Amino acid sequence: MDTLNNNAPIGVFDSGVGGLTVAREIIRQLPNESIVYFGDTARVPYGSKSKDTIIRFSRQIVNFLKTKNVKAIVFACNTASAFALDTIERELDIPVIGVVKPGAITAIHSTKNKRIGIIGTEGTIKSEMYTSYIQSIDKDIEVVGKACPLFVPLVEEGMLDDEVTKEMATRYLKELQNENIDSLILGCTHYPLLRKMVGKIMGPDVCLVNPAYETAIGLRDMLSETGLSADEGAVPSYEFYVSDDPLKFKQFANTIMPTDIGIVKEVNIENY
Ligand code: DGL
Repeated sequence: MDTLNNNAPIGVFDSGVGGLTVAREIIRQLPNESIVYFGDTARVPYGSKSKDTIIRFSRQIVNFLKTKNVKAIVFACNTASAFALDTIERELDIPVIGVVKPGAITAIHSTKNKRIGIIGTEGTIKSEMYTSYIQSIDKDIEVVGKACPLFVPLVEEGMLDDEVTKEMATRYLKELQNENIDSLILGCTHYPLLRKMVGKIMGPDVCLVNPAYETAIGLRDMLSETGLSADEGAVPSYEFYVSDDPLKFKQFANTIMPTDIGIVKEVNIENY
């Protein structure tokens, strides 16, 4: 491995705007770190695609991020974390982290009755990655999964507080309401943007788990263990790239990020 520059940026990617929920947590918790973000807006959603396709997409994005000399990569996407992280990690000479394991650990700490719910894309739920990781730590925990495939397109369209989204959320969450869960993992990085709505439907006795928080902590630990933490006082830079419609991405991103995200550039990701 070439010597990595500890003030180099961190690559963060998702199929679209969902990974911004992780990026904003990284900005909050690691204020000296720079970020290069990629949203695959031309190919969203990932959740209904095959494992092979998600591995191919992730590999292309990682190749692109490496051209930006990133020192580490965050798979800010549960579907890519479940399907592609293990494969891509073996091909890389820089550290990587996904969102599934940090999310699972948070949920294990949160549950008291050992009944955890998980909502995510079809791919994430079918992979059973959360269930097997949680049960490898505590085999007595029951995990109930529910795929919510329409949430991602609704979020990408900015329909966060819309009657249609509410109707879908009510239908999707109905079966989880009878499962006596006390913790619910928001197992897709788009879903924290629907947190209020999901919280209202599930009620105050169900703790909503957003893996972003623990992912940022995991990233901080990973950087410090590898000697890659940015210098104290380093001034961070943030760059944003997408594979389609930069303006739409920027408008949405500016409604959820702490500051204006600046210019968003378009990349032909199939070239990587
Ligand atoms: N936000 C991603 C995830 O966490 C991908 C959603 C999608 O594109 O279907 O799974």
